[in-house]
Amino acid sequence: MSSNADHSATPALPPHDPNDPVENAVIRRLAGNWHRRASVKREEPDLDDLFQHERPDYPEALLPFHDHPTYQALPPEKRNELLSWGWIAFNRHTVMVEQKLANPAFALVVEGEYPDIQGEAMNTALAQAMVDEQYHTLMHLNASAVTRRQRGGGLRDSDLPMPHLVREHQRLRDSAEERWQRSLTTLAFATVTEISIVAYLSLIVDNPDIQPINSTTVKIHNRDEYCHSSITAELAEMVHSKLNAAQRRFFLDHLAKGLDGFVTNDYASWDRVMDLSRIEGGHEMLADCRAESSRQRLVCDYSGLRGLAERLDVVEQLDIDWSQSVATG
Ligand SMILES: [Fe+2]
Ligand SMILES: [Fe+2]
Repeated sequence: MSSNADHSATPALPPHDPNDPVENAVIRRLAGNWHRRASVKREEPDLDDLFQHERPDYPEALLPFHDHPTYQALPPEKRNELLSWGWIAFNRHTVMVEQKLANPAFALVVEGEYPDIQGEAMNTALAQAMVDEQYHTLMHLNASAVTRRQRGGGLRDSDLPMPHLVREHQRLRDSAEERWQRSLTTLAFATVTEISIVAYLSLIVDNPDIQPINSTTVKIHNRDEYCHSSITAELAEMVHSKLNAAQRRFFLDHLAKGLDGFVTNDYASWDRVMDLSRIEGGHEMLADCRAESSRQRLVCDYSGLRGLAERLDVVEQLDIDWSQSVATG
């Protein structure tokens, strides 16, 4: 590729420097076309106009208790209220993962925590991804606000606890003794979420039965995440290549811990919802579900992390039961 062609395709970036050891073609291409593909650069739809009251806010099949007798016996308005809470919790989880994991990890790199991998294109791509995440946060906050306006009363995001994954990340950071351990904890958890969030969002994207603005919000978000997944995989590979043996072991252990937290159903959040919605027998229902291993996970597709593990040639070194993964395409 000539430097001229490169320059015209990526107006936001200076010409490619073949002597720069941290130049990366994938990162450079993604940084160069951000202005054409990013959701933040597009017009926002008017969400209230699109709301359809008769549609549920969240897919019933995603409730871990959807076939439990206690849930089945609830009147339709209570079942709908729990589905609205499912959507509010989905938004809160998404927002908190972006604010507490993805953006802090990107900021770490931009601020120079890993100077060996810092290049102009990487910094640009990460700064763009941080803008994307901030915009996704706004999109999901707006989506929850529309749900509250249209359904009336309650349904406050802040009534829910911090998501399980974020609490687990904080617990591990608090228990780490060294700065490099805290940084790699954040980087590992962000790597897992950025590589796996497409599988999480895909739980909703193509559902034809739920509130169309909810599936549309997720679809718009998901488009950006395909690129974040590529950027994060490149970043993880570059960082991994610079780590010593102990740091590599730590990073791989925390990728596995991050995946475990990412795929798990957040029962603490549902416990809070049972109180907020005053569901009689709700906690007992959740205890029944928790006890069943088949109801532990919300996300069953590990293919994102599997792909990275293959690239790093560490599939066997990760404490993950890959046979549990069900690819969703
Ligand atoms: Fe995002
Ligand atoms: Fe992202």
